[in-house]
Amino acid sequence: MYTSKISGLGSYVPENVVTNDDLSKIMDTNDAWIQERTGIKERRHIKKGDGNSTSTMGVKAAKIALERAGLTTDEVDLIIFATLSPDMYFPGGGVRVQHMMNMNTIPALDIRNQCSGFIYALSVADQFIKTGMYKNVLVIGSENHSGGLDMTTRGRGVSVIFGDGAGAAVVTRSEKENVGILSTHLHSEGAHAKELSLEGPSTEHWVPEIIAENPQEDIPYYPYMNGQFVFKNAVVRFSEVINEGLQQNKLQAEDIDMLIPHQANLRISQFVQKQFKLNDDQVYNNIQKYGNTTAASIPIALTEAWENGKIKEGDLVVLAAFGSGFTWGSAIIRW
Ligand code: ACO
Repeated sequence: MYTSKISGLGSYVPENVVTNDDLSKIMDTNDAWIQERTGIKERRHIKKGDGNSTSTMGVKAAKIALERAGLTTDEVDLIIFATLSPDMYFPGGGVRVQHMMNMNTIPALDIRNQCSGFIYALSVADQFIKTGMYKNVLVIGSENHSGGLDMTTRGRGVSVIFGDGAGAAVVTRSEKENVGILSTHLHSEGAHAKELSLEGPSTEHWVPEIIAENPQEDIPYYPYMNGQFVFKNAVVRFSEVINEGLQQNKLQAEDIDMLIPHQANLRISQFVQKQFKLNDDQVYNNIQKYGNTTAASIPIALTEAWENGKIKEGDLVVLAAFGSGFTWGSAIIRW
């Protein structure tokens, strides 16, 4: 019986820092509004010509994770790449990573579960390892949000929240019991697909159609978010799916050493922290610096928490996410 563990972590964010004040110069917003509603102070945006893209940032994070795992690219059996902002409509980012890292003809799987993308990807990696099929799986979450946001006052309700970056984890076979990824829990509710979505360009909203049918002011190729509806669903689903994971492993909230919630909004994380009666040292947040980086947010936060010595061997680490789909999930890990 195999178990799976995270053997290496890495992250990368573009150098270009965009503060709330920077945004207030290009749209009608302000630092106080953004901080009060979301906790965000600044985020990173790719700068034209800096060489970053969704897949190249993923490669940078992946190289660090592999080095820390003590593995070469030849030892990776599968790439799983999660993003909502791929470089191209198709193919996805996984094959680009495989090419850029000069890897063998290993499979590359793309995951499209937005903010829950990393948890979904981790869950797939975990299953492939536990069945004995693979030994090392490279899991990447990466987003280039800035390339597709409406950076005018019209888009301010969405665009101030999101940032660019990438995180990666190497998931490796282990034979130790009760260590590593204990369980993962995944859910979806497609009834709310449009509440947080980008409808076009797509086969339902193709470019010529969009241009023909929409006045210049109302082109639906920017993300739409029903913020308050998302918020209300997020706090309920985060709690449910964390409880589900704890119950399956016969654990209590008091057993959590570190909760790493998807960095959607600091207010959501604080709400969840309160519900589980966790203190500040038991929850890791870095949305203040990076904004919401969707599929990249958990691996960036996990990497940072680990680098800062906040996760030690034997700790119970809980990952949880909620986002567009709606999709949500959790992972219960004994480090
Ligand atoms: N700056 C200044 N004013 C703004 C901005 C902005 N950036 N954005 C909106 N406003 C204005 C609105 O126009 C509105 O003005 P009005 O009252 O004159 O009409 C007012 O601020 C309030 O707007 P609301 O949208 O009602 O503000 P709310 O308190 O709901 O906060 C927010 C918005 C922050 C988006 C909140 O709903 C939220 O966090 N929701 C959860 C969203 C989330 O976490 N998404 C990510 C999870 S999913 C994922 O990660 C993909």
